[in-house]
Amino acid sequence: MPSIPIRANNRRLVLLGAGPAGTESSRRPGVVWLVGAGPGDPDLLTVRAHRVIGGAEVVVHDGLVSDAILDLAPAAARRISVAKRKSRHAYPQDEINRMLTAFALEGLTVVRLKGGDPFIFGRGGEELEACRAAGVTCHVVPGVTAALAASAAAGAPLTHRGAAQAVTFVTGHAKAGETPDLDWPALARANQTVVIYMGLSNAAGIAAHLIAAGRSASTPALIVENASLPGERRLVTTLAGLGDAAGNLTGPALLIVGEAMALAQASIPACLAASPSALPLEQRR
Ligand SMILES: C[S@@+](CC[C@H](N)C(=O)[O-])C[C@H]1O[C@@H](n2cnc3c(N)ncnc32)[C@H](O)[C@@H]1O
Repeated sequence: MPSIPIRANNRRLVLLGAGPAGTESSRRPGVVWLVGAGPGDPDLLTVRAHRVIGGAEVVVHDGLVSDAILDLAPAAARRISVAKRKSRHAYPQDEINRMLTAFALEGLTVVRLKGGDPFIFGRGGEELEACRAAGVTCHVVPGVTAALAASAAAGAPLTHRGAAQAVTFVTGHAKAGETPDLDWPALARANQTVVIYMGLSNAAGIAAHLIAAGRSASTPALIVENASLPGERRLVTTLAGLGDAAGNLTGPALLIVGEAMALAQASIPACLAASPSALPLEQRR
């Protein structure tokens, strides 16, 4: 197997196949594990994820994966962050796919650690397809997606008899200044919960679309920032107040809209979050 150069960050190359020929790792087939790391708190990692991370030879991880979880990997494992940083864009998905399959084709056990669940807005499907196309075995370990952690923390169920007969996960991500192309009339029906991932910067636009499509402006809404992490903040508001409440948050955060959010317990009042100087010192960011 020829050596394959992989750009592990802006400064250096990782050269695969640098070990002596005929070593154990060059003989046995490698594997990619797509592992859900959960929303951040290591306590929310599954037992299987814990075990798989402990057997990693290479860990390729996103920015939302905490150090406490990364530290579960063996000290000798290579750690490669593909997180977006201020100084550069995120890794192109093709490059991540190539990295995963190249390491596995070298015979290594690769753990691709993703925040939440790999198949919920995590591009896990694309990485799975890349592994299949390259003939690399790929296993998926589910993780606790952010919506589950957020609703549990707030004490507000995503489904609730009589108040929420369905729950829909949508993306709020769109080009700057635009709202995503969603089925607004379907999402505007009453008695269902809509969870919006990556919607913080479009919160006002999303709320406007839902209201224009017929959802009541007084529908209860919850924003959870840093669910399960030490800096978790929960704001209870209404659909009409969603944009203002989201104003000063920097995320990661979820917007959750629906009648069942009337049960949500706030950590701080939404009106204070919109004006950080009004917060007690220890809650300012
Ligand atoms: C690219 S998506 C990844 C979702 C992830 N695969 C999951 O299942 O939770 C990133 C978005 O997930 C949400 N998110 C992830 N972790 C979160 C957390 N700890 N608290 C609140 N929202 C979170 C935010 O909306 C963030 O913008």
